[in-house]
Amino acid sequence: MEAVLGTGLLPINPSFASDEDSASNNPMTVLNRIHPPRPDWYEEFYALALDKTMISYEAEIAGYKSQLFSNLRGKADKILEIGIGTGPNLKYYANDPGIHVFGIDPNSKMKKYAVAAAEAAGLPPSNFKFMQAVAEALPLNDASVDAVVGTLVLCSVKDVDLTLQEVRRVLKPGGFYVFVEHVAAKDGTILRFVQGVLDPLQQTVADGCHLTRNTGNSIAKAGFLGLDINQVVLSTASLVNPHVYGIAHK
Ligand SMILES: C[S@@+](CC[C@H](N)C(=O)[O-])C[C@H]1O[C@@H](n2cnc3c(N)ncnc32)[C@H](O)[C@@H]1O
Repeated sequence: MEAVLGTGLLPINPSFASDEDSASNNPMTVLNRIHPPRPDWYEEFYALALDKTMISYEAEIAGYKSQLFSNLRGKADKILEIGIGTGPNLKYYANDPGIHVFGIDPNSKMKKYAVAAAEAAGLPPSNFKFMQAVAEALPLNDASVDAVVGTLVLCSVKDVDLTLQEVRRVLKPGGFYVFVEHVAAKDGTILRFVQGVLDPLQQTVADGCHLTRNTGNSIAKAGFLGLDINQVVLSTASLVNPHVYGIAHK
């Protein structure tokens, strides 16, 4: 079995699977089932758009992220980031010496941006690995990472509950899940009504992103031992509000 990064992050080895199981468990088959391939131009365009359009959002959320990610300092050597996208979070935690980051995303066009962000954050190339995969079927062994990071991802995955189960599975006991997610506005508000109307359009233009998920509730019900969750409305996020952010402990 090949060790990812040579540090104990082990891709799953379906060594006891039958031929039929192996075919359906093949990482690309799983990826394509959960996240059917988009046209190349769409993936390229979405990656470029994320890279170019999130600058003011990232500036506004920077204070919250700095505080949140400071919880990782000195406590997490092996980190998995789900839906890493262009890698906007790496600068908050990747400059700790000895840290190893494994970033997964179904959109392979994110890789060049994430690799550049890892390099800019001072992470040695051998300590960062990008893998094309989905969060619903993480290519890592049980209890193999100290922390999982996910920002603006549970809006986009196909199955939120399955993703959270996977996050818990790969975390070591005592490990933690750090998240920032946008969620549905309060029922009965104008914002919630508008989100409902625009949700199908948002899914089309933003690669499956949903505006109306109650993601905070899903995290609260996912079976973590402890949860610290907070809410904020960001002026740069417009209809994509409010946000929940915090840490869940396994
Ligand atoms: C709004 S972007 C956020 C990217 C990055 N985390 C950030 O904070 O900018 C959503 C990301 O989730 C990825 N994604 C979509 N479906 C996914 C899935 N099933 N599993 C993991 N990532 C997924 C997308 O490719 C995209 O990179």
